Amino acid sequence: MALRCDLIIRDATVFDGSGGPRFKADIGVTGDRIAAVGDLAAASADREVIATGRAVAPGFIDAHTHDDRAVLCGPECMLCKMSQGVTTVVVGNCGISLSPVRMKTRPVPPIDLLGDESWFAYDSFGEYAARLARDPSPVNTYALIGHMSLRVEAMAGDTQRAATDREAAHMQKRLAEALAQGASGFSTGLYYPPNMMAPTEEVIAVAEALRAAGGVYVSHMRNEADDVLLSIEETLKIGRAVDAPVVISHHKCSMPENFGRSVETLPLIERGAAGQKVDFDIYPYAAGSTVLIPSRLRPDVPVQVTWSIPHPEMAGRMLPDIAKEWGLSDKEAAEKLLPAGAIFFQMHEDDVRRIMAHRLAMIGSDGLPHDSYPHPRLWGTFPRVLGHYARDLGLFSMEDAVRKMTGHTAAVFGLVDRGVVRAGAYADLVLFDPATVRDASTYSAPTTPAEGIVETWINGQSAYVYGQGATAARAGRLVTRNRA
Ligand code: ZN
Ligand code: CU
Repeated sequence: MALRCDLIIRDATVFDGSGGPRFKADIGVTGDRIAAVGDLAAASADREVIATGRAVAPGFIDAHTHDDRAVLCGPECMLCKMSQGVTTVVVGNCGISLSPVRMKTRPVPPIDLLGDESWFAYDSFGEYAARLARDPSPVNTYALIGHMSLRVEAMAGDTQRAATDREAAHMQKRLAEALAQGASGFSTGLYYPPNMMAPTEEVIAVAEALRAAGGVYVSHMRNEADDVLLSIEETLKIGRAVDAPVVISHHKCSMPENFGRSVETLPLIERGAAGQKVDFDIYPYAAGSTVLIPSRLRPDVPVQVTWSIPHPEMAGRMLPDIAKEWGLSDKEAAEKLLPAGAIFFQMHEDDVRRIMAHRLAMIGSDGLPHDSYPHPRLWGTFPRVLGHYARDLGLFSMEDAVRKMTGHTAAVFGLVDRGVVRAGAYADLVLFDPATVRDASTYSAPTTPAEGIVETWINGQSAYVYGQGATAARAGRLVTRNRA
C-alpha cells in the first residue's frame, strides 16, 4: 500500500544538519516524526507543500536564550524565534533561571532580565516543568539551572560574598533535584556582580551535581576582556573537576584593547578540546546586550539603552544623548536610568567572524525577549548567519551554517532525534528560501521579522507561517539531555 502521510514537503533542497552537501528530496511527516525522506512520488498526504527552489533544514536550536519566561506565555511570545526557524530554545543561561527560587522583592540585576519578582514563583524545577506541561509553548525547551538563582535561595539573598560550604552543599542538592526533574545542566554568570564573588571552588562544589546526572556546564565567563584566557582556563578546570562537558557562552574578545585576541582564545579552547568536551556559542553581531552597570561604562564603548524602569521613554536612545539632555555625565545618567539594560558596542567584527567560523561554534541568539527596545539579535540571529554570513559574505557554506544551528548543537546538548532531517527524527523543520533569507531587524528597527523564512514546524505541527505569524499550535515539549 502506498505511504500516506499527514504532510509531504515536495522537491525541497535538504540541508540535513550534518554539514554534508545539500540534496533534493521529498519529506513525509506523520504525527510528530519524519516518516520518510527521498522520492515520495508514490505517497500522498493530507497537506502537500511544493518546495521547488526552497530549502528544508532541521528546525534551528537556539543554543543560548533567556526565554525561561517567554516559553510560558504562548505563541505570540515566541514569534521572535519561530519567525527565524527556531524550534528549540536552551533556557537558563548566564547563571539566571526562573527556578528553583521564589522571590518577594524585585530581583537584583542581572536576574531581573527575566522579569520582576512575580515571575519567580517556582520552588523547584519540577513545578516549572509542570507549568510548562500544563500550558505548553509552541517551541521545545531545554533547561539549565542558573547559579545565581541557586545562590539567592541558598544564601537567603545575602549574595555579596562567597557561599559557605554548607550553602554550596545546599545548592548542589538543589541542582541535583532539578536535574532529576528534567533540567539538563548548570549555568554560571561569573562576570556579574554579585556572582563574581563566587570563587572557582564554590562553582565546582555546586557543579559536582552534574557528575552523577551527566549534565552540561555552561558559563558566561568571569572575564571576556583582558583576562579572557584565564577565564577560559577556569571554565575548563570546572568542567574537568566534575567530569562535565563545557559550553563557553557567547564567546567574544571584549573591549578595544582585546580586539583580535580570538587568535589566542581559539587555540586555547582547541587545546582544551583535545582532552575534554568543550564547545561555545556565539551571536552574529559585534555588540552585546545586558543590564546597565554604570561603574563599567567606558568612553570608547558606545551604549544604546534597551529598557529602563524609571525612564521607559529612553529605550532605544544612545546614552550620551540622554546625558546631554539631562545635563549629566554618562555615568550619572546611567545611574538615573537604573534598573536598566543596554547594548554595548564592544567587539570587533574580525573576532566575531573568526569565532563564528570555528568548527566548535554553535549559534545562540542571547536575545532578551522582555526588553522594550531589544538588541536586534532577538529577531535576527539565525537568518543573519544564513543570509549575511554564509550566502553574502561566504564566511562558510550554508551547509555548515545549518550544522552550527542544528546537528552540532544537538550533539553538544545531547538531544537525540533532533537537529537532523532523516526518517525517524522529530519533525522539527524549517522551510526557507536560500536566495532571499535575511535578517531584517536592526539597531534602529529591532523587532522586524526576518525575510525568507517561509514556515516552521515543531513536532510535526505548523507553528509559524510567513505573512500570517504564529499559529495556535503549542506542540513544544520539555526536551532533556540524553545521558547514554
Ligand atoms: Zn551572558
Ligand atoms: Cu546570556
